[in-house]
Amino acid sequence: MSSLTIASPADFHVHLRQGSLCKLTTPHVKQGGFDLAYVMPNLKPPVTNVEQALAYKAELEAIDSSVEYLMTLYLSPELTPEEIRKAKVAGITGVKSYPRGVTTNSDGGIESYEAYYPVFAAMEEEDMVLNLHGEVPSDADTDTHVLNAEARFLPHLHKLHARFPALRIVLEHATTRAAIDAVRACGPTVAATITAHHLALVVDDWAGQSWNFCKPVAKFPSDRTALREVIREGHPRVFLGSDSAPHPPHSKSVSSPDHGCAAGIYTSPVLLPLVAHLLESFGALDRLEGFVSTFGRRFYKRELSADAAPPSVQLRKVPEGNTIEKEYTSADDSLVPFWAGKQIGWEIVRS
Ligand code: NCD
Ligand code: ZN
Repeated sequence: MSSLTIASPADFHVHLRQGSLCKLTTPHVKQGGFDLAYVMPNLKPPVTNVEQALAYKAELEAIDSSVEYLMTLYLSPELTPEEIRKAKVAGITGVKSYPRGVTTNSDGGIESYEAYYPVFAAMEEEDMVLNLHGEVPSDADTDTHVLNAEARFLPHLHKLHARFPALRIVLEHATTRAAIDAVRACGPTVAATITAHHLALVVDDWAGQSWNFCKPVAKFPSDRTALREVIREGHPRVFLGSDSAPHPPHSKSVSSPDHGCAAGIYTSPVLLPLVAHLLESFGALDRLEGFVSTFGRRFYKRELSADAAPPSVQLRKVPEGNTIEKEYTSADDSLVPFWAGKQIGWEIVRS
């Protein structure tokens, strides 16, 4: 296959940031081949109410109005059932939960889910989506650390699903076989996203390589195999959420005893060719459209209309290799993408 046409790709987990940085990142959604961005709320301060989410959406639309932005709220004590109802009316799609302290800007994250049951009940009634960062915080007393943090979160997923069976829940950026098995075992209201980078990386790739460091960390080769297998099989509740998470180079490279390397990998500007390259590498290129468009759109009820021809993106195979940029810069910022300088086998055909 030397060319492919993909109907309106949708990235169901992306960090676009704010201020000058979001002027650099936002156009990269389209550049990477995507028409829809499901936007994460972990700004400083986090997006905790409808007013902030709508202001943020307007900011993004002013930068690039050709992308559809689906907005989320950050789960925190400020969020009430009333705010959920307001959010639904305002067209906000979901609520993102960060357990406290596990990742970038999660200091205001949650400590226990029970306190939020009234919020989840309202979300279930209003048909909003709950997005889970599925890791428990590290804890020496219980031998909890970055490698088992996701597996140890899974009982929370099962408990929430049992209590709110009609609530649509997405286990974000699944990295383990255990997580994939857990999502498979749940009903039709539970899905998982998988990032591009977790289809490439394993533990050895981020140990000592800060550009490959993100949360959740990439796990073992057998886990990566499980991620690849579920995509190859075309599981309809497993789809792309890039978790593209830009950080300025100094925060990725500087580390000191009290300030480590920032967690996050930037894939947005090359996302679709990168995903095509990865899926081809493990024999799943025929699942590309399902993984980057159909499955996520169906789960999120953003299916493409059957009447009109949907917008589409064309990819072309590049036998000589398409080199990923070493850096993206604006007047104020610079960002180094995943696999900077490396060659991939696909590129977007630009008219
Ligand atoms: C994300 C970020 O930088 O905002 N970082 C990451 O490593 N994935 C936060 C997140 O999604 O965990
Ligand atoms: Zn994220």
